[in-house]
Amino acid sequence: VRKIFLTRHGESQYNQKGLIGGNSSLSERGEKYSRALPGALLERLSVSQDEPLSVAVWTSTLKRTIETARFLPFPKLRWKALDEINAGICDGMTYEGIAEKYPDEAAARKRDKLRYRYPAGESYMDVIQRVEPVIIELERERETVVVVAHQAVLRAVYAYFMNVPPEDIPRLAMPLHTLIELTPMPDGTMSEQRFPVD
Ligand code: F6P
Repeated sequence: VRKIFLTRHGESQYNQKGLIGGNSSLSERGEKYSRALPGALLERLSVSQDEPLSVAVWTSTLKRTIETARFLPFPKLRWKALDEINAGICDGMTYEGIAEKYPDEAAARKRDKLRYRYPAGESYMDVIQRVEPVIIELERERETVVVVAHQAVLRAVYAYFMNVPPEDIPRLAMPLHTLIELTPMPDGTMSEQRFPVD
């Protein structure tokens, strides 16, 4: 059966400092995740008896996803459309820093996280639209695909396959260092399993 795997990048240096956005490299913990990922994935592929050869890895164009996928022994494709939500003027800040410097922006985002657009950046609605071409290709693809991307972007991809209503998308749980396996069911829906990887 053809599956889709989703994972965020390993912990980045920005994650470690609580900063959003940016293009930082992996932290030491993140590096560890990148080394543990091939084993965890190969284990799942052998359970499902997928031909290891018919696997593709899709990343964003940001360093943290490329570094996370580095040791996966499969062909790779980079998608700009998988880059993390653009936080505009808030890029590189902490949530506390944003609340302090731009209290109205922080309040507006809290009120309507789905539609709130960062000044000079994007909203979740923008991200949902932007990932559409990736989803179309994922639907078309006959290989197993491993998508290594980011919190907001993966919420949008996950929501499409799991039929999550738009209003719930911005608060979906999308933890670091977790492999999400989506398996198509005979009734056309997807079943989900999550594997924490340490
Ligand atoms: O903190 C990591 C991160 O990927 C940021 O780069 C991004 O702005 C954020 O998560 C998205 O999550 P939320 O929409 O919950 O702020």
